[in-house]
Amino acid sequence: MKSQLSPLVDTFDRRIRYLRLSVTDRCDFRCQYCMTEEMRFLPRKSVLSEDEVIRLATLFVELGVEKIRLTGGEPLIRPDIVGIARRLNTIDGLKELVLTTNGSQLTTLAKPLVDAGVSRINVSLDTLCERQFAELSRTGHLDKVLRGIDAAIEAGFQRIRLNTVLLTGQNEQQIEPLLDYALKKGIDIAFIEEMPMGHITQTERELSLVPSAQVLETIKSRFSLLPIVGGAADGPARRYAIEGTSTEVGVISPITHNFCDSCNRLRVTPDGRLVLCLGHENALDLRQMLRSDMDSSSLKRAIVAALAYKPERHVFDQPDEPQVVRLMNVTGG
Ligand code: GTP
Ligand code: 5AD
Ligand code: SF4
Repeated sequence: MKSQLSPLVDTFDRRIRYLRLSVTDRCDFRCQYCMTEEMRFLPRKSVLSEDEVIRLATLFVELGVEKIRLTGGEPLIRPDIVGIARRLNTIDGLKELVLTTNGSQLTTLAKPLVDAGVSRINVSLDTLCERQFAELSRTGHLDKVLRGIDAAIEAGFQRIRLNTVLLTGQNEQQIEPLLDYALKKGIDIAFIEEMPMGHITQTERELSLVPSAQVLETIKSRFSLLPIVGGAADGPARRYAIEGTSTEVGVISPITHNFCDSCNRLRVTPDGRLVLCLGHENALDLRQMLRSDMDSSSLKRAIVAALAYKPERHVFDQPDEPQVVRLMNVTGG
């Protein structure tokens, strides 16, 4: 039976509480699994303005969204990002504002983001080897990100989680060093299976999968893991407390452990498309509606109607199914 309390319930009876808002497709890195080397980005006039972002987010919260995650590209390279966070945080009914970043701007932005009301951040970190970091991110510098993580710890976020996408033959030897680093810093870490997004020639995806079961085996050989159920971060990660520490370790397994039956999220792209599933192309152009002066009730009706097209599941684990041509930087993961 459908819930009567929120209009944001899809045809599979999944209640949407969570909006992933990608505020730019641009990034100062070019991670191999996310982008191609030569990227063409959206023209600036296609990208939603600060006011448009706030208006849309407000509508979603009025419809029942309780949590917003700012993503990109790299959200922190948008010059108005702190103002966006501050304004989002004042929306009545929003319970949690969080952000996913590559960490390169945290030395200067960690404290302003905490002050603006961002409670938790996820920082991508795939390796602690400087040379490998440069290779995987193509344009990034490890040292800057590590200093950013220290600034984030200092700034006082409620929780900080590292995101590590594992690739065979590249960084799979980094599971233990990264875990030790997270333990030393008293922060969390999630190990992620790579998803096939866009046409990326650099990696042979089927060959590069590091299954989460293998990751957990490696960790369990050294630590006792206690499963965590539910909690604030109700998402795709299967999470474990590491006994005797404050660190949580998670695995996100889109390929080997489908989690779509508990999906609670929608996505908005930088150019205002409502994406119903990370693993499908169907989307609704909200920007066109915003810019044609559509009133708020009509916009909300259009959003609710679009939910009928939210697919049951992604098909990343079924190689014969059509794949997504959007690159990851557009949807923000
Ligand atoms: P929470 O907000 O705490 O649930 O964090 P999260 O793990 O969803 O967010 P984050 O931005 O750190 O993303 C971590 C990984 O999870 C990335 O690889 C995302 O692409 C992936 N991810 C997040 N949501 C979904 C989803 O709905 N479907 C799939 N297939 N992957 C997702
Ligand atoms: N598969 C899985 N995760 C990805 N990310 C980027 N591209 C991919 C991919 N192809 C991750 C980033 C970031 C998060 C938002 O998504 O590492 O932490
Ligand atoms: Fe930038 Fe994140 Fe994509 Fe890397 S994964 S290129 S840091 S958006």
